[in-house]
Amino acid sequence: MKAVVYTEYGSPDVLQLKEVEKPTPKDNEVLVKVFATSVGYGDLVGRKFGKLRPSEFNMPFPLMVAAKFAIGRKSPKNTILGSDFAGEIEAVGKNVTRFKPGDQVFGYKGMTFGANAEYLCMPEDGMLALKPANMTYEEAATVPGGGFTALSLLRKVNIQPGQKVLIVGASGGIGSYALQLAKYFGAEVTGVCGTPRVEMVKALGADKVIDYTQEDFTKSGETYDLVFDVYGKSLSAGWRRVLNPNGRYLFASFKTPHLLHMLVTAKSSDKKVICALASENPEDLNFLKELIEAGKIKTVIDRCYPLEQTADAHRYAESGHKTGNIVVMVAHPN
Ligand SMILES: NC(=O)c1ccc[n+]([C@@H]2O[C@H](COP(=O)([O-])OP(=O)(O)OC[C@H]3O[C@@H](n4cnc5c(N)ncnc54)[C@H](OP(=O)(O)O)[C@@H]3O)[C@@H](O)[C@H]2O)c1
Repeated sequence: MKAVVYTEYGSPDVLQLKEVEKPTPKDNEVLVKVFATSVGYGDLVGRKFGKLRPSEFNMPFPLMVAAKFAIGRKSPKNTILGSDFAGEIEAVGKNVTRFKPGDQVFGYKGMTFGANAEYLCMPEDGMLALKPANMTYEEAATVPGGGFTALSLLRKVNIQPGQKVLIVGASGGIGSYALQLAKYFGAEVTGVCGTPRVEMVKALGADKVIDYTQEDFTKSGETYDLVFDVYGKSLSAGWRRVLNPNGRYLFASFKTPHLLHMLVTAKSSDKKVICALASENPEDLNFLKELIEAGKIKTVIDRCYPLEQTADAHRYAESGHKTGNIVVMVAHPN
């Protein structure tokens, strides 16, 4: 099968189209013929991982050390990138009961990657679900990672109807779903993003949009019940003044100072900082599928690239110009 392979960390030039062995599903696995995948934050980090300085990694140093063991210290352990995918089940292992050949699915490989290839294997109880019927494979391939991460984290802070919520990074892979999910849960939502993405964030349903190049939300005087800060770039010092009494400041990316704020505020009955990791739950993919089919969640695709131009897709994804998701089309469904 064809796959985009990388054997060393570095620029997009390390991504090479190659012929590799087609995987065989184990007894509890399905074999997916991949039609589309997307280029997300995890793919960009995975590609350059060994060359990242600790300051460029959006998590505390111990988590970077753990990631080194998982991803590969000097060279990548899994040489095919790609976390999010959509495709069709071609074959199933003998113990598989939840899926059958011909099922149209979408899913998430996480940091084990492998979706930049014509085929991949997934355990049937992994992050895999039937694809939303009203989405193309290209659209569905942009949903899983960002969608379930946003959903899991919003549940961890117990989002409630009527809350005033600020999503910092509302135009990104996680924030665009966090915004739409927060609206679905009945919150009044303000999104923060850069100038070129303001219209997109409005179109996703934000009640208000703040352009971070024009306005510092920590100094505007507005306050919120929940701030969901995806990228963690906002000033540590500003968090307290943007919260209402009993408010929560949730960091999806967090460094040691954010963790210290969490520790210090852990026992507070008032404002709290929360740093949390999303939990993988395949049921969340089914929940997202239902919301998409009910028209509550949509996706925005900026560009689609064929598999052989995956390196160009990475270049564009990190150019700072993308508005919405970057899709890699692996094959065309017949
Ligand atoms: N906690 C977890 O379980 C978990 C799981 C996965 C990932 N993560 C973390 O999530 C992050 C990646 O999120 P993503 O995939 O959504 O990234 P992304 O697609 O690259 O989006 C980044 C967002 O941040 C915004 N942004 C950039 N600079 C900003 C600034 N100075 N002020 C405010 N917003 C700014 C961007 O806005 P513009 O593009 O409009 O400029 C964009 O909306 C990583 O740091 C990763 O560590 C956490």
